[in-house]
Amino acid sequence: METPQRNLALDLVRTTEAAALASARWLGKGDKKSGDQAAVDAMRLSFNAVHIQGTIVIGEGEKDKAPMLYNGEKIGTGSGPAVDVAVDPVEGTKLLAFGRPNAISVVGMAPSGTMYDPGPSYYMQKLVVPSKARDVVDLDASVKDNLNKIAHALGKDIDDLVVFVLDKPRHQDLIQDIRDAGARIQLHTDGDVAGALMAVDPESEVDVMIGTGGTPEGVLSACAIKALGGEMYARLDPQKDEEKQNLEQIGTDLTKIFTVDTLVNSEEVFFSATGISGGTFLSGVTYTGNGALTHSLVMRGKTGTTRRISASHSWDKLMRFSAVDYD
Ligand code: FBP
Repeated sequence: METPQRNLALDLVRTTEAAALASARWLGKGDKKSGDQAAVDAMRLSFNAVHIQGTIVIGEGEKDKAPMLYNGEKIGTGSGPAVDVAVDPVEGTKLLAFGRPNAISVVGMAPSGTMYDPGPSYYMQKLVVPSKARDVVDLDASVKDNLNKIAHALGKDIDDLVVFVLDKPRHQDLIQDIRDAGARIQLHTDGDVAGALMAVDPESEVDVMIGTGGTPEGVLSACAIKALGGEMYARLDPQKDEEKQNLEQIGTDLTKIFTVDTLVNSEEVFFSATGISGGTFLSGVTYTGNGALTHSLVMRGKTGTTRRISASHSWDKLMRFSAVDYD
C-alpha cells in the first residue's frame, strides 16, 4: 500500500491555463503564428515553477528552429523527478486562427525515457476506441469489419456509431467506407487529440476515431488514454517521400503497430488540457472584463483520476505581478 503521492498534473494545469489565457486573445484573427507564439511564451514561463527535471521530447519541433519549448530543451526547476515532456501549446493552430471549435492547449508528462520520440515522423495512422472495444479491432481489418465489431462491443447498431475523422483529402476513401458501412461521421478540419479523447470517453457522442494525423499528437493522446482507459492502435504513416526516406534511413520499422503502452511505457503519466476556443470537448476561454474563466481536464495515469477544473482568473491581482500581459 502507498500513501498518496504528488500529482504533478495539478502543476501542469497552470501551464496549459497560461497558454490558453494568452493565446485565446488571437481567436479568429487569422494569425496562426502569433496565437501559437503567445501560447508558447506563456507556457514556457509557467514551466519555471514546476518542480521537475524535464526534457522536451515533443515540442515546437527542430524543423522550425523554435527558440522555446524545442525538442531536447530542459524545462522545470531542475529539482524533482526526471521526466519526458510533450507539449502542444496550441493543438489546432488553424482552429484558433479561424475561430473554430476545439483548439486546446495540451501537455503530457512521463518518467524519463518512457515516452516514444517521433524523431522525423510527422504522421501516424490511428484507430482509437473505448475500453469495451479494445480487443475486437484490428488496424489491418476493413473499416466495415472494425465498425461492425465496435458496434457489437458497445451494444449499439452500426448506424448509432459516430466516427471522428479529420477532413483531409487523404481520407476520401476512408470517409466513403464509413458511409458505406452505415455509420455516422463527425468531420473536423483539425484537432485529433480532442478526437481521440472524445472517442474513449463513453459520455461523448463520438464512439471511435479513425485516420491519419500527427505522430506527436498520437503520443500526447496516449498520455491521456492511459488515464481515461480505451486504446489507440497506431502505425507510422509518412505522407511524403522525404518523410519516408528519413525514417527508413534511421532503420524505422514502418510496419510496427503501436498501442498506448508502447507510446508511453509507464503508468506514472500526467496530462493536462485547457480549452482555448469553446467546443464539444472543452469550453474555451471567456474574458470577463476584469479577468477570465478557463476549463481544463487534468489526469494521472496511475490512479486514473480525471479532474475537470474550472478556474476564475482575476486581472486585478494577477496583473500586479504577472510577466505575461493577459489583460
Ligand atoms: P497544429 O496545431 O500543429 O496545426 O495541428 C493540428 C492538427 O489537426 C492535429 O490535430 C493533427 O494531428 C494534425 O494537425 C494533422 O496534420 P495535417 O493538418 O497536416 O493533416
